[in-house]
Amino acid sequence: MGLVFRLFARPILALQDSEKAHLRSLKMLRILCSNPVTRLPLKLLYKPKKKLQINLFGQEYFHPFGLAAGMDKRAEALVGWETIGLGFIEVGGITQHEQDGNPKPRMFRSSSSRSLINRMGFNNPGSKNMALTLKSHFDKYGKPNVPLWINLGKSKSTALDKSHTDYSTTFERLWEFGDVFVINVSSPNTPNLRELQNDKSLAKIIDACQEINRNLAGKNKSSLKPILVKIAPELNDVQLEMIVKTAMSCNCDGIVATNTTTSRPESNSKSDRQIFGQEGGLSGKPLADKSTDFIKKIYSLTGGKWPIIGVGGIMNSDDAWEKITAGASLVQAYSGFVFEGAGLTKSVVNGLSKKLKQNGLAHISEAVGLTHKGNGE
Ligand code: FNR
Repeated sequence: MGLVFRLFARPILALQDSEKAHLRSLKMLRILCSNPVTRLPLKLLYKPKKKLQINLFGQEYFHPFGLAAGMDKRAEALVGWETIGLGFIEVGGITQHEQDGNPKPRMFRSSSSRSLINRMGFNNPGSKNMALTLKSHFDKYGKPNVPLWINLGKSKSTALDKSHTDYSTTFERLWEFGDVFVINVSSPNTPNLRELQNDKSLAKIIDACQEINRNLAGKNKSSLKPILVKIAPELNDVQLEMIVKTAMSCNCDGIVATNTTTSRPESNSKSDRQIFGQEGGLSGKPLADKSTDFIKKIYSLTGGKWPIIGVGGIMNSDDAWEKITAGASLVQAYSGFVFEGAGLTKSVVNGLSKKLKQNGLAHISEAVGLTHKGNGE
């Protein structure tokens, strides 16, 4: 099916405006998975049969490969992602207030370099609408059978010094639905958002969310929801160390590395150079090494004792293996699905399973950070 996608669907999608193609694919996935008759063949084709179980944040993951934030901003295709076998699903980013995002066009694709540039600017339904969407989904289908992550962003209209209330209000409204929450202070497309990666602002945001977390966990007699921070790949070593220290000291449960980059690769192709000239964050293949370097650094800084989620440029199982052996406990992709299609999950999981055997490992958790132990290249 990967070949069918490459030969037919991808060229057709490549002729369309990137955002329209994206919305059509999402709609198709939602419709096909809304009834059991069309759901079954998709499941048979795409869902990995192999399990690479890993326990993290007190939950069982069938395998470590999940959907990255931004792909399903409105949580429209939850049944679809489960059907095609994702190990976990991150929806959003969601901001306190509903917003349209930046003017279109705002998503660009370079197939030759397998990269995307986007300046979406957190187009999303807002925290109130998202709570309604998730409530009606849960009422109709129950809780997803894989962990549901929710990505939190900041409304453009909220002043930077009031960011903590924006994040914590969204967190409060969505708390009951998410299994894991990601504080995203690293999108390049909301003015000055990345400034929130500084110590004081970050601590204020995390503290505001943790306070709500304690209150709601107490009221519901349940455990605290894990909170992670997602960082940009543009941090220097000192900034990275500060963020890690701040997030750890505020009892964050881990880190997501990384968001898109504002830097651009060299290119001899005129069409690529035109695309790379667009403003926004770049994702996909050219981001892979950069995000893996960040994973390695964070793993070293934390002695491998703090969960790292690796994202950036995963197009196949080799890329996923690199991030896991660099120190990521779980990995995610967005751009990989655009270029490789729905078969990506199965090929990553099957490939990882082979690599475990080749390296004489019994469990995927044994591969986490393997390069630091002088092995696994
Ligand atoms: C993103 N990404 C993203 N990240 C985030 O934390 N919140 C968000 O709302 C979004 N939105 C978003 C939209 C679009 C169009 C893209 C392409 C990306 C970043 C994404 O989750 C991921 O970190 C990067 O894309 C790098 O991974 P890939 O795409 O190279 O697998």
